[in-house]
Amino acid sequence: IGFQQGLFQNEKIPYDTEQEGLSEQITIHFSHVVAEDTPKGQAAMKFAQLVAERSHNKIRVEISPNALLYNDETELAAVKDNKVQMIAPSFSKMTKEVPAWEVLDLPYLFHTTDEVQKVFTGEMADDLLAELNNKQIKALGFWQNGFKQMLSEQKQIIQVNDFHGLKVRAMPSDVLTKQFQSVQAIPINSSFDELFTDMNNKKMDAMENTISNIYSKRFYDREKYLTLSDHGILAYSVIINQSFWQSLSTADQHIIQEALAETTKWNFKNAQKMNSLDLEKLESNDLPIYHLSNKEKERWAKAFQPVYKYIESTPAQSYLTKIQTVLQ
Ligand code: LMR
Repeated sequence: IGFQQGLFQNEKIPYDTEQEGLSEQITIHFSHVVAEDTPKGQAAMKFAQLVAERSHNKIRVEISPNALLYNDETELAAVKDNKVQMIAPSFSKMTKEVPAWEVLDLPYLFHTTDEVQKVFTGEMADDLLAELNNKQIKALGFWQNGFKQMLSEQKQIIQVNDFHGLKVRAMPSDVLTKQFQSVQAIPINSSFDELFTDMNNKKMDAMENTISNIYSKRFYDREKYLTLSDHGILAYSVIINQSFWQSLSTADQHIIQEALAETTKWNFKNAQKMNSLDLEKLESNDLPIYHLSNKEKERWAKAFQPVYKYIESTPAQSYLTKIQTVLQ
C-alpha cells in the first residue's frame, strides 16, 4: 500500500501499489535482426506501445533492432540465458530446436496471406507453439513478414534450370537446404547481418527474401534481378525467456499475451501493406522485376517436390496433413 495526494491539502489517499503498477518497473529487452521499417520491426514497436499503455508504463519493452545486440547466431543463446527476454527469429532458424516447424518452410504450401493467417492464428497455431518444448524458452505467438521472392546477380531466375549451379543463401533449415538442392543450386548459409557483405563479396549469387527485407537492407543495390515467385513464406516465432515469464504475475502475463494477440492481428495487415509499398519503391528504382506466371510457378513447385517427400519421412508429416486439410 502507498499514498497519493488527494484533492485537499494534506489529504492522502491509500492505493494499492501493485494494482497501480507503481511498484517495481519491469523491462523486457527485445532483440531482433531486421530494420525498424519492416513488418517485424514495426510489430515489435506496436507491441511495446500496447504493453506500456496497458501496464500504465509498469512494463517497458526496450527494442534493439538491426542485430545491434545479437545476431542470428547468438540471439537464441542470449534469450535462453535471459540476457535479453524476447526475440522473434524466423521459424526457419528454429527448426533444429523445433523440427515440427520445418513443415512451414515447404515451398508453395501457402498461396495467400489468408491461408498463412489461418494456420498461424487458429487452433493449429497453439499446437505448433507448444512444439517448442524447452525449459529455458517459451513461444508466445507467430508474426508474419510475407512471401519470399528470388533476388539474383547477373541473370534473372525464371526457369527451373536457371537455378543450376547457383550459390543461393539459405537460412539454416533442412527444408530450405533441400529446396535449393532439388533444383541443383548450392545452398550457402549466411547470417542476416552479414548477408549484404556476403552478397557483395560474391559468396553467393542469389538469395530468397521478402520485398520488405530486400528493400530495407538495400540488397537490391548493384545489378540485381528480382523474380516475384511467392514460393515460400517468411514468418517469425515470438519467444520469451521461461524463467522471466514465470517471474511475472498472472496479471502481467495477461497484459503481455493480450498485447501480443492484438499486435499479431495488426501485423498481418501491416506486413502486407509494407511489402506492397516497398515493391512500388523497388519498381521506381528501375530494378528488373519478373512476375512468374502460374505455369512457371507450377514448374517450380514440381521441381521442389522432393522436399515434400523428405517431410513425409519426418514427424512434421502429421502437420502437413493437418495444414492441407485446414487449407482445403
Ligand atoms: C533472414 O535471415 O533473411 C530473415 O530471417 C531475417 C528476418 O528476421 O526477417
